[in-house]
Amino acid sequence: MNHKVIIEPFRIKTVEKIKMTTESERKKLIEKAKYNTFLLSAEDVIIDLLTDSGTSAMSADQWAGILKGDESYAGARSWYKMKEAVQNMTGYEFILPTHQGRAAEHLLYGRLGGKGKVFISNTHFDTTRANIEFSGAIAIDCPIPEGLIPDLDYPFKGNMDVKALEDNILKYGKENIAAVILTVTNNSGGGQPASLQNAKEVGEICKKYGILYILDSCRVAENAYFIKQREEQAKDMTYLEIAQKMFSYADGTVMSAKKDALVNMGGFLALKDEKLFESLMTTLIITEGFATYGGLSGRDMEAIAIGLKEVFEHDYLHYRITSTTYLGERLKDMGVSVISPIGGHAVYVDAKAFYPQIPVEQFPGQALAIELYKMGGIRAVEIGSVMFGSKDGNGNFVPAKMELVRMAIPRRVYTQSHIDYVVEVFAELIKHKDKVKGYKIVWEPPFLRHFTAHFEPVG
Ligand code: F0G
Repeated sequence: MNHKVIIEPFRIKTVEKIKMTTESERKKLIEKAKYNTFLLSAEDVIIDLLTDSGTSAMSADQWAGILKGDESYAGARSWYKMKEAVQNMTGYEFILPTHQGRAAEHLLYGRLGGKGKVFISNTHFDTTRANIEFSGAIAIDCPIPEGLIPDLDYPFKGNMDVKALEDNILKYGKENIAAVILTVTNNSGGGQPASLQNAKEVGEICKKYGILYILDSCRVAENAYFIKQREEQAKDMTYLEIAQKMFSYADGTVMSAKKDALVNMGGFLALKDEKLFESLMTTLIITEGFATYGGLSGRDMEAIAIGLKEVFEHDYLHYRITSTTYLGERLKDMGVSVISPIGGHAVYVDAKAFYPQIPVEQFPGQALAIELYKMGGIRAVEIGSVMFGSKDGNGNFVPAKMELVRMAIPRRVYTQSHIDYVVEVFAELIKHKDKVKGYKIVWEPPFLRHFTAHFEPVG
């Protein structure tokens, strides 16, 4: 039978109560939160789509693993389990555990970076870019041109532009390129996949010039699902084999386990090269913890080892990707403009198209995030001029490339009826969309203003 309903491939064993609120309560709550969704209490949110990071529901097996966690300072049993799971997935021998992805980034990019150094990626994620720039180095994005056209249907919009990669290597000099980073899926580019072919071509260029090639693999299983569907050479491979092949082209990986390892905290750095590994181990011990736990408890490592296996199961991945697509397609059916094709972990709504009456300097994305909360208690995040807007030398507003709102779907947390509710809220927002006005920033910190800025409605 060909069924349309997405059946969650799990039964619910433990539940967490959602506090229901009314629209009038939420209007007060968002005003109290200075119209910034990051400043809301999570308790006051009905459906939390702020991030897919660290928000997964763990399986019964993972919870059982938590009880078996070995909390020994050195050489814990749980560490060996995690190490083996990471080695099996990546094929890399040398593993450094960290408390989350950005700690692995800081360790590696902090060491390779510095003034005069250059990193090239399909698109650097914010924390990746921040760690690189903090070291004094430059971060250059080389997405393929197709990746920048929001509604263009193209199978691998997360690919790196290999021509632009090579041009940049020649422009800056191969000795100045600290590393090339392929992020799969490409979070900042809409959760879009990169192909095996692209991963291979990037590897060939890196080899030709003797440059270190790193995969940011936090959503590598989701990426493998797309590859199996869309790339001829992979149609008979398992998801794990696809991921393994992708890793085989690179020299190492940083992974935030908070995504595709299906845990609430954790990460690692894995490398082929022993010398680089050894040189980073001392820094790991100084900053994160001893080499056999990084910043993690034994129980966290146990859960990561199990999550890295569960994430490659077909029933899970099929449900995961089709349920994200389901939300995006329902919104498209209602005429809402979203980044297409729908990515793996999130749906990105084009807020500029949704609220054409709101000028970019009045943050249409922020307005949509606020309306989603007021109307339905849904929390999403603006990815537009609040996050990336800036001022030029004359103090003039420079908007972001796009005004998006990201609705990231936590793994194994919400059911199809929760998602149908999100669709219903959008239907209601569409009815009133002409009346919605913009916002202005009344206070902001010097860096990363989207987390803590205060807003007020305009007019
Ligand atoms: N790389 C990518 C592609 C990410 O999406 C993230 C985090 C990181 C690295 C950093 O990992 O949070 O464990 O330190 N992304 C989250 C998000 C925060 O909401 O997209 P971390």
